[in-house]
Amino acid sequence: LVAARADRHGLRLVNLVRSTAGARKMRELFPAQPVIVTSDADWREQVRRATGGEGARAVLDCVGGSLTEDLAGLLADGGTLISYGRLGSGATTLDDLPLVNRGLTIRGVTIWHWTERTPQQRAEDLAFAVDLARTSPELLEVAARYDLGDV
Ligand SMILES: NC(=O)c1ccc[n+]([C@@H]2O[C@H](COP(=O)([O-])OP(=O)(O)OC[C@H]3O[C@@H](n4cnc5c(N)ncnc54)[C@H](OP(=O)(O)O)[C@@H]3O)[C@@H](O)[C@H]2O)c1
Repeated sequence: LVAARADRHGLRLVNLVRSTAGARKMRELFPAQPVIVTSDADWREQVRRATGGEGARAVLDCVGGSLTEDLAGLLADGGTLISYGRLGSGATTLDDLPLVNRGLTIRGVTIWHWTERTPQQRAEDLAFAVDLARTSPELLEVAARYDLGDV
C-alpha cells in the first residue's frame, strides 16, 4: 500500500523485503520500483546505489528492533526515520543512532491519531483508499468472506 501511494504521487521509493519470494511479489506488483532483499549480504550498498549515493530523505520502518540502526544509517544527513510498527526482534538504543552529528529525526505514526487530521486531509485519505480498492484490488487480499448474518 505504501508502494501504491508512492507510485500515485510520483515519489521515488526503494522497497525492502526480507526474502526473494517477497521480492518477486513486489516486483510483479510494482515493476518500476527497485526492490532490495535484506538477506543479501550487500543490501545496504544496494540501497545506497538505489538512492543515487545520497542516502534516503526518509525511511518508513515497520520492522524496528535491531534493523533500526541499519535503516538510520541509510538516511541522508537531516533525514527522518518514521516508525509505524515492530515486526522485528532485537533492539536499537537511541545512543546507537547518529542523531546529533547527522541531524536525524525519528518520529512515530499510528492510525489512532488519524482522526486528528483535518476533515480535508481525511477526505483525501478516504478517496485515495476507495480509489485504490476499485482500481487495484490485487493489493487488498481477501482472506475470507462472511455473510452479514454471521455477525
Ligand atoms: N502504525 C499504525 O497505525 C499501523 C497500522 C497498521 C499496520 N501497522 C504496521 O504495519 C506493518 C505491516 O502490517 P500488515 O498488517 O501489512 O502486516 P502483515 O500483513 O502481517 O504483513 C507483514 C509483512 O511484513 C513482513 N515481515 C514480517 N515480519 C518481518 C520481519 N521480522 N522482518 C521483515 N519483514 C517482516 C512479511 O514479509 P514475508 O512476506 O517475508 O513474510 C509481510 O510481507 C506492521 O508492522 C504493523 O504493525 C501499523
